[in-house]
Amino acid sequence: MSGHSNSEAKSLPIAKALQAAVPGLRVEWAAESREAHSRDHTEDLQFLPDVVVFPTSTEEVSAVMQWAHAQGVPVTASGAWTGLSGGALPVRGGIGLSTKRLNRIIRIDELHHQLVVQPGVIVQEMQEAVQDKGLFYAVDPASRGTCTIGGNLAENSGGPRAVKYGVTKDWVLNLEVVLADGTVIRTGADTLKNSTGYNLTQLMVGSEGTLGIITEATLKLLPWPRFNALLLVPFTDPADACRAVAGLFMDGNQPSALEFMERSAIELAMDFTGDRQLPLADDTAAHLLIEVDGFREEDLMPQLERIAQSLERFHAGEPLLAMDEAGKNQLWNLRRKVGEAVKAHSTYKEEDTVVPRGHLPELLSAVKRIGAEHGFDSVCYGHAGDGNLHVNILRGVMPEGQWNDTLPDAIRELFREVIHLGGTLSGEHGIGWVQKPFMDLRFSEAELALQRRIKDAFDPVHILNPDKILPEAGQR
Ligand code: LAC
Ligand code: ZN
Repeated sequence: MSGHSNSEAKSLPIAKALQAAVPGLRVEWAAESREAHSRDHTEDLQFLPDVVVFPTSTEEVSAVMQWAHAQGVPVTASGAWTGLSGGALPVRGGIGLSTKRLNRIIRIDELHHQLVVQPGVIVQEMQEAVQDKGLFYAVDPASRGTCTIGGNLAENSGGPRAVKYGVTKDWVLNLEVVLADGTVIRTGADTLKNSTGYNLTQLMVGSEGTLGIITEATLKLLPWPRFNALLLVPFTDPADACRAVAGLFMDGNQPSALEFMERSAIELAMDFTGDRQLPLADDTAAHLLIEVDGFREEDLMPQLERIAQSLERFHAGEPLLAMDEAGKNQLWNLRRKVGEAVKAHSTYKEEDTVVPRGHLPELLSAVKRIGAEHGFDSVCYGHAGDGNLHVNILRGVMPEGQWNDTLPDAIRELFREVIHLGGTLSGEHGIGWVQKPFMDLRFSEAELALQRRIKDAFDPVHILNPDKILPEAGQR
């Protein structure tokens, strides 16, 4: 699907005006550049910006916003295009603002265990830079090798380790933000505690570029727990795997990752990566992938033994233990590639469902029931410890017309069930463009109206990533 709300004829005048207004700013408007800034990892959506700008400083971002505000031209910021809800797609054209050249690690503050970064820094590079100093930035989305911290801040990204360490929002102390009219603000202070006024920092995290453009972030760090081990645990009944998740916590375990994969998820990842070395018994229907970590190697085995003991109650099969780097990398690589593997396999629609983790068994069975009613197969995997199940609905051989007709109803039914179970529409991928039609299921009209007033307060002329997150009043 694509939406071209703009034409090439608009590009040149905007580019020339921007170059005149912001001397030294890199502005691109060639077709290839606009194409390269028009797609993320969400399905096959495409929206072209009229121009793409590459600011190198907060001052340049501010000058772009001043110009755009005066002209009423939309501005949509982007990082590495790994988003999964269309958050960075310029759906109303205008200016695509790439954070690629805002890519400096400004400071690793060892005294205070803090890190100050620009938004375009790649998350894994940031993690490795602080690990060199014995420090740890825990949040590690599957795309960490390519995604940027700015994108993580915009979407409040999570990943496997969120179950022990929390998601992006939990590590943000302070942000520098350029507002819609170009004003530069700070949202907080570089302190561990802060009870001073409204919490603009947390409002900004997860706001998907609709309230301001983050140009600098102060993040909290931990000492690096450098030792970890992985267990891959097979189950013949996926419901047992789901039940084991809450059971592990009730038994007092605290894994640093607790992931669920249906058999089809790991099989697709094996096909996609070509790595078929993993033993996969015929009766295995699902796996839990469980990581424990610690500051000393001897911290690991007692945790693993205790987990293995808990798992016995849930009819788990013989676990595979990986303690060496090669074994762990193999398992993590398969897990991290599931998303791409599904995408390569079939037209699909991904939902980022999340429920309180004790309700995972009901969520999984609802997914399968709704799928059967509408004629869909699905591949489910995700961050089970957080109750966060990525549900990939496959089109398979279904005719396109039937797929387009049936899918929205099936998704609404799924989200109704999610909400009935005390959950919500997205755990970590955001609402962006694709989940907007379902916001009425989670929020009342009064709650949505309040959120619209927040948007209006920050962006009265609606130029910041317009038409994202919030449906128009009275619309789905
Ligand atoms: C993952 C991405 C899709 O967990 O969030 O693999
Ligand atoms: Zn995920």
